[in-house]
Amino acid sequence: MGSTSIIHASKALAKVATIHLVSGDAKPSINNLSKDLVSFIDTQIKAKNGQYYFQHDGTLHIVVKVEAHKSNSNYTNETCRKAGHGVCGLINKMKVAKVQVLNETTLTQAGLYFAEGLALSNYQFIKYYKDTSKKYNSLSTITVVADAKLKKDIDQMNIVCASLYTVRDMVNEPVASFNSVDLGKLVQSSAKKYGFKAEVWDKKKIQAKKFGGLLAVNQGSNIPPTFSILEWKPAKAKNKKPIVLVGKGVVYDTGGLSLKPTGNSMDYMKCDMTGAATVLGTFIAIAQAKLDLHVIGLIPSTDNRINGNEYTPGDVIKMHNGLFVEVLNTDAEGRMILADALSWADNYNPELVVDIATLTGAAARAIGHFGHGLMGNADEKVLNEFKQAGEEVYERCVELPFWDEYGDLMKSSIADLKNVGGADGGAMTAGKFLEHFTKAPYVHNDIAGCSFAHSEVNYRGKGGTGYGMRYLFQFLKNRAK
Ligand code: BES
Ligand code: MN
Ligand code: ZN
Repeated sequence: MGSTSIIHASKALAKVATIHLVSGDAKPSINNLSKDLVSFIDTQIKAKNGQYYFQHDGTLHIVVKVEAHKSNSNYTNETCRKAGHGVCGLINKMKVAKVQVLNETTLTQAGLYFAEGLALSNYQFIKYYKDTSKKYNSLSTITVVADAKLKKDIDQMNIVCASLYTVRDMVNEPVASFNSVDLGKLVQSSAKKYGFKAEVWDKKKIQAKKFGGLLAVNQGSNIPPTFSILEWKPAKAKNKKPIVLVGKGVVYDTGGLSLKPTGNSMDYMKCDMTGAATVLGTFIAIAQAKLDLHVIGLIPSTDNRINGNEYTPGDVIKMHNGLFVEVLNTDAEGRMILADALSWADNYNPELVVDIATLTGAAARAIGHFGHGLMGNADEKVLNEFKQAGEEVYERCVELPFWDEYGDLMKSSIADLKNVGGADGGAMTAGKFLEHFTKAPYVHNDIAGCSFAHSEVNYRGKGGTGYGMRYLFQFLKNRAK
């Protein structure tokens, strides 16, 4: 099924199910209401109901209250998204295919963010039911009625939501049907479809380039690794040196010989390629939005398994940049494959290298699923841009320390580095490990806590959330302005 379209209209449409966004005790603006409906609406307002609906003139009207946050417009926008989530079930229960959103509040962008929350809530991953037809949501189009000035924002929101559908599909797809090779193929077909450049390396090329970390993790797999290089280079790019995005593409993580417990974390480790999916999704979005920014994407991909030939604790691996890493835990595989991609990033003489990865349970334990861990050695100004983008799309991040003492914990007694620190500070020791592999200003995003929802989390849904794509897009969009 395609995504839920968000489209702009300058004027309200006749005979289309209508959502009225109102604030305070305001009534929805509808002409010629019957007496009964007038008193029904009065009762709802008196009862302070945040949402109510009725039929009038043969069409459904849903009234939704949204209030401005007292000081923070990002919170107001999030209230609107959540309100969009709040009507999704009702709309589909009523078998409505098209809705229009009339913003009757003074909050200029309420309709836009409401539509975002509704479109994202309408996502489904139901291809693995025998009888899918009955399960499809009816809703397919959301028209936002607004001033022509908002058209560009609305079109861009449509692009972002559609791209996020693709990201979530990738994460939800089990490894049996979406492995490292499939990921590479999707990069290539997406590049063709949306007009960015892509090159996908096979195992031979990866061997030729001596990506020791990626090859070590891949040793235990019967499926070859891939390394994808994406590029969006518009003629009028605002930046002289590119921004490089690196996404962790572990299509499945068993932990390897340092095996994960089953019935616990292993059940949902198909989500370990969320970083990769968000990088690809970001390219799909920036190419359609035609952002004036030169961006490179790098995606190392493999699964982390056991087949008798797997890498083992105690192994010492020579990485792409020549550093030697002593493997003390095969479950710390993400940093092994990211490290090679980070050193490859330096070939582009980048202004900034950014990675995004489901890297450590430690980040998830520290922050939970309400936000993710940000760290790095880039200027504080750059880190602040990421924080701001996170607040704007409500994929918020917290800056974690990037102190050298964490790096000291990664020193090996027989090699340059080991791949695990001690029991404590796991998110930061992982970040400091990665810092060794790029010379460019570096930003690290650990999204382990946010990539997979075990039960529905508002418009992020259940299962693969695609968390991180809206955040990366927003960061780039702000930079391209
Ligand atoms: N993929 C996991 C991290 C993860 C945890 C992702 C929860 C999504 C949800 C990663 O490869 C991992 O296993 N990390 C280890 C590192 C440790 C061995 C140093 C961890 O966090 O336990
Ligand atoms: Mn792991
Ligand atoms: Zn992993």
